[in-house]
Amino acid sequence: MRFGKWVFCALLLFLLNLVVGGEDFEQSRRSERISGSAGDVLEDDPVGRLKVFVYDLPSKYNRKILQKDPRCLTHMFAAEIFMHRFLLSSPVRTLNPEEADWFYTPVYSTCDLTPNGLPLPFKSPRMMRSAIQLISTNWPFWNKTEGADHFFIVPHDFGACFHYQEEKAIERGILPLLKRATLVQTFGQRNHVCLNKGSITIPPYAPPQKMQAHLISPDTPRSIFVYFRGLFYDVNNDPEGGYYARGARASVWENFKNNPLFDISTEHPATYYEDMQRAVFCLCPLGWAPWSPRLVEAVIFGCIPVIIADDIVLPFADAIPWEEIGVFVAEEDVPSLDTILTSISPEVILRKQRLLANPAMKQAMLFPQPAQSGDAFHQILNGLARKLPHDKRVYLKPGQKILNWTAGPVGDLKPW
Ligand SMILES: *[C@@H]1O[C@H](CO)[C@@H](O)[C@H](O)[C@H]1NC(C)=O
Ligand SMILES: *[C@@H]1O[C@H](CO)[C@@H](O)[C@H](O)[C@H]1NC(C)=O
Repeated sequence: MRFGKWVFCALLLFLLNLVVGGEDFEQSRRSERISGSAGDVLEDDPVGRLKVFVYDLPSKYNRKILQKDPRCLTHMFAAEIFMHRFLLSSPVRTLNPEEADWFYTPVYSTCDLTPNGLPLPFKSPRMMRSAIQLISTNWPFWNKTEGADHFFIVPHDFGACFHYQEEKAIERGILPLLKRATLVQTFGQRNHVCLNKGSITIPPYAPPQKMQAHLISPDTPRSIFVYFRGLFYDVNNDPEGGYYARGARASVWENFKNNPLFDISTEHPATYYEDMQRAVFCLCPLGWAPWSPRLVEAVIFGCIPVIIADDIVLPFADAIPWEEIGVFVAEEDVPSLDTILTSISPEVILRKQRLLANPAMKQAMLFPQPAQSGDAFHQILNGLARKLPHDKRVYLKPGQKILNWTAGPVGDLKPW
């Protein structure tokens, strides 16, 4: 049985490479676009479609925090810093708040790291409250809508719920003062209290230069069928493995650790990026938080992402045709992963690979320095532009108040 599978896999990989390397070479190597579908939206130019006013906050909300810990520039939530820098010199920025469509408050609320580099969001609610208090007293714009024309970058695990444990995050809910704002966040899961309708889901930050330095020839045969590196169990926090990733990762390991189609391990090799370029499928299972840079890496390295995360809302899902690029496997179907993946025809695999080869897909996943057209910064702006014009009902009558400034955990009300 095992041997049979292995022969099948070898044959499949051989056929795939034969199609790519044979007569169809020129045809199949080319990248493919899905014309007339959302794929085209990625190339929109946001300039001229929106104007953003950047509040000038005291440096204690941003630059000073970064000075204390420069590691904030490289962790997976660094987008909050790079987006600020990008907006300061972007042509969509306006210095005249009266003509702004959107208001942006530069608060680096994930830049509080443990010695191991993990962001702690415990101070974030007080810091955010403090910033909102400041802009609402010094400028008239917050009070006009109570934040409905303001956007915030909140890339933490569970966005503006500001806790890294899901149960606690759900208990907290979105910070009450941010209820009307547009939240730009990496967290995305349907029907979850930490995802507001109208939020913009973005990819986590993954260092572009580091990935580019590991690019190998696109002609390299894809000789690995399924690839994954990462945790299957979180022994420190969840020894039984029943809760971590809702058991999906444990199930991948238990079912496929001895399956030759699956190159899976907890060990992170030096050739990790190269290996992804030698693989047909890269597993992107849920972790503690739904997002990790794994999806970004799969897209950059042309490895078909296999998304195992029920109800996930993927980055820029209104612009990127994820269903066409990737493979979605329900968490409960993990035990059949081998059958599901080996049943996908070579034609379908090749089409997904051609779509992944479209540079626009890769560009949309990255936050390069300096910014480039079509990158994740531009996709965020495109997302904000698509939400315009604001509904007239968001503008409050003079004196009208909707937000409750004393709602939420008492600890959050302490000054920052
Ligand atoms: C906005 O409303 C708050 C009360 O909710 C008030 O304290 C503040 O001064 C107002 N801001 C401006 C600029 O009038
Ligand atoms: C605001 O929230 C606090 C705390 O939950 C609550 O006691 C108070 O009644 C609320 N105020 C209004 C006007 O709803």
